[in-house]
Amino acid sequence: MLFVSLVLAGVTLLGESYEYCRVGSLGTSRDHFCSMRAVRIHKFGGVEELKVENIPVPKAEAGEVLIRVFSVGVNPADTYIRAGDFGPRTFPLTLGSDAAGVVEEVGDGVTEFKKGDRVYTVGRETGAYAEYTVAVPSRMGHLDDNMTFAQGASIGVPYYTAWKALYFRAQAKPKETILVHGASGAVGIAAVQMAKANGHRVIGTAGTKEGLELVLKQGADLVFNHREEGYVEKIKASTGDKGVDVILEMLANVNLNTDLDLLGHRGRVVIVGCRGEIKINPAMTMGKETSIMGVALTSVTEEEWQVIRSGIQDLHKTGHINPVVAKEYKLDEVAKAHHDIINNSGTFGKLVLDTTR
Ligand SMILES: NC(=O)c1ccc[n+]([C@@H]2O[C@H](COP(=O)([O-])OP(=O)(O)OC[C@H]3O[C@@H](n4cnc5c(N)ncnc54)[C@H](OP(=O)(O)O)[C@@H]3O)[C@@H](O)[C@H]2O)c1
Repeated sequence: MLFVSLVLAGVTLLGESYEYCRVGSLGTSRDHFCSMRAVRIHKFGGVEELKVENIPVPKAEAGEVLIRVFSVGVNPADTYIRAGDFGPRTFPLTLGSDAAGVVEEVGDGVTEFKKGDRVYTVGRETGAYAEYTVAVPSRMGHLDDNMTFAQGASIGVPYYTAWKALYFRAQAKPKETILVHGASGAVGIAAVQMAKANGHRVIGTAGTKEGLELVLKQGADLVFNHREEGYVEKIKASTGDKGVDVILEMLANVNLNTDLDLLGHRGRVVIVGCRGEIKINPAMTMGKETSIMGVALTSVTEEEWQVIRSGIQDLHKTGHINPVVAKEYKLDEVAKAHHDIINNSGTFGKLVLDTTR
């Protein structure tokens, strides 16, 4: 009888109502919250396709971890996936790859994490835009006690992408000068922090005074406003007209031409973000033997992933990873978060969803 009444009663956690399930027999049973809120789409389209729904809590199978999610990182890529530009094509689809929370249960064979651990994850198994998500240990990391869940949810795609762009693609060497073109956003802040930690000279750009101050605070040696006329010439002059060694470019459709001018001898520009077309003269790469290369976190190999993961864990341990959270949204404000991440101007760090509200 007690069992039946518990099943029917329901409980309130963090102000939300959950259907409460008890699995197995009393005394030896495992308690489960059976349903959770998740943001899903049933077809590709605009922000109106984002639905907050009650769905069953996923289960951790062998080799997997179930995480109680407290914060979710919103990435521009989530909006491209929502629109159907790339990514998974099966419905219903729970969006999101980056989350932070506490381990709820581990499947057979998991030794790196245990129930109660504070963790973050990057990479989707069941989707991160939910109160619970299933992740695999190779896509997870432990979260320092002094880091908030919102900061933990901001590590994933931005830090992994910045690492891949700097070290796998550009092969940046210590003491080289790195221009982070768009340094006030999630990837840009990650790039500035890790480039400084690894001994590079870092130049960052932002579009507002507040953004410039933020980038300086992350350790950039010099900052310039990418909305100000003549800023490209000022950057070049700051290098003694030698040019920069590496550019991480957040908006290639606007800047690629001037980037080719800004690069020094054998300089490399890595295209991280691009939202359209641009006309360039390929001959500009010849005299200085410069290179234009793309980066895609999604095309990382398992071997590369492990190298990036260990690089990020080392930086985490030495306190060089310090994500900046610009704004937290409730789960049912997800449409606004998707609007803002694409239409932002005067960026000031990362946008996250708070699943407890
Ligand atoms: N290739 C990959 O695997 C990968 C992975 C992650 C992200 N991305 C892409 O990389 C881009 C950045 O991602 P994010 O998460 O950092 O986005 P975000 O947080 O929204 O940041 C956008 C950045 O772009 C800057 N920006 C705006 N106008 C600019 C201009 N004219 N020149 C240079 N920078 C400009 C913004 O600065 P202000 O607002 O201060 O002007 C801000 O710093 C997005 O396009 C995203 O889709 C690609």
